[in-house]
Amino acid sequence: MGLDATTVGSSTVERGIRERMKATGADSVEKYWNLVCSSAVELQELVESVVVPETWFFRDNHAFTALGKLVREEWSTRNPAGVVRLLSVPCSTGEEPYSLAICLHGSGMSRFIIDAVDISERALTRAKAAVFGRNSFRGAGLEFQNNYFEKNANGYELTAGIRCRVNFERGNLIEETFGATRQKYDFIFCRNLLIYFDAATQKRAFAKLKQMLTDDGVLFVGPSEGAVAVSHGFVSTKLPSSFAFRKSGGKLTLTGEERIKDKPERKASALSKPPTSTGKMTTVRPPTPKPGIETPEPEIDLSLARRSADAGKLEDATQICLAHLRRKGASAEAYYLLGLVQDACNAKEEARELYRKAVYLQPDHYDALIHLSLLTASLGDANGARALQHRAERAKQNVK
Ligand SMILES: C[S@@+](CC[C@H](N)C(=O)[O-])C[C@H]1O[C@@H](n2cnc3c(N)ncnc32)[C@H](O)[C@@H]1O
Repeated sequence: MGLDATTVGSSTVERGIRERMKATGADSVEKYWNLVCSSAVELQELVESVVVPETWFFRDNHAFTALGKLVREEWSTRNPAGVVRLLSVPCSTGEEPYSLAICLHGSGMSRFIIDAVDISERALTRAKAAVFGRNSFRGAGLEFQNNYFEKNANGYELTAGIRCRVNFERGNLIEETFGATRQKYDFIFCRNLLIYFDAATQKRAFAKLKQMLTDDGVLFVGPSEGAVAVSHGFVSTKLPSSFAFRKSGGKLTLTGEERIKDKPERKASALSKPPTSTGKMTTVRPPTPKPGIETPEPEIDLSLARRSADAGKLEDATQICLAHLRRKGASAEAYYLLGLVQDACNAKEEARELYRKAVYLQPDHYDALIHLSLLTASLGDANGARALQHRAERAKQNVK
């Protein structure tokens, strides 16, 4: 299934195996190994025991705002009588694809097809039942609950008119045949899964996603996955905090190549130094995946990531930071370095989000504060930029 055991935690995998050994009566690891290798049913049970089906309605809701805008302002103009095709993979227990349906329905769109895929049968059974508990509704802005759900003894039941708009099916994103015969999608949501894959699997997953996306299509990834999308040749749509990307050959945006022609290349060695005081961001070529099938899991030494970033090896730097986040958890320095990579690729919104994460984790991270300040200024918020600049100065003084 592509999950990096060190990311989900080797104890989770071990616990899953122990549980399944108990359930199947296998009294040694060897016996269980033989069983799981010979039975697709048992393999699925093992998969069920390690998946993380965490999700909720309108999770990271800027993505849905961006989707509504793209469908209304771009897609509908290009395809006045067409049917927009969307894919949610992984869809988990259904909150994401149903949010897509609610979003489109709410903006007056009726011509859409939503396919939703997950590797977990159990998650899909819950998705199809479409009755949700309180955990599926988080944060502010829950007005949609009144319009699309009915509260009953079991929870919040989704209205039939939205339920029937999503086609659920079981599938494994990284399986050889996955997506091969599908008609392409205009929008793909692949959020909060790629971060759990090792480098080689991410590469396979992005190849699939590219293959399934139309030339003008948009891929939405999770907030921690923007850097890895860029490192696999995707280009930011620059829609605020949406983590929405196009294939670099897409027709509707400047491609990475064109953007580079626009602006001088930044000297690689200057990458991890704060940009000039004018706040101008320069850009370097987005990293291209290296040839070769298997990419070994990288080192997780962040000083190596910084050196790689300085040397312009943005893909290497990205992979080290992501591996670090997967294995060691949240880290201000890893988010800061990922921010630098995004900044270097001119993905300002994504960079800002990453710098913010770094500053949230380490409020006196001087470099992150300075970069965030300059980026904020270049995005037109002079007051916000000044406040960040003062914070950076205070952080520096405290260190002295
Ligand atoms: C954290 S949920 C993400 C759900 C939703 N996209 C979101 O962002 O809220 C991760 C899901 O990935 C699914 N999954 C894990 N490996 C998969 C694979 N190789 N192919 C498809 N789904 C997978 C799990 O079953 C789980 O439901």
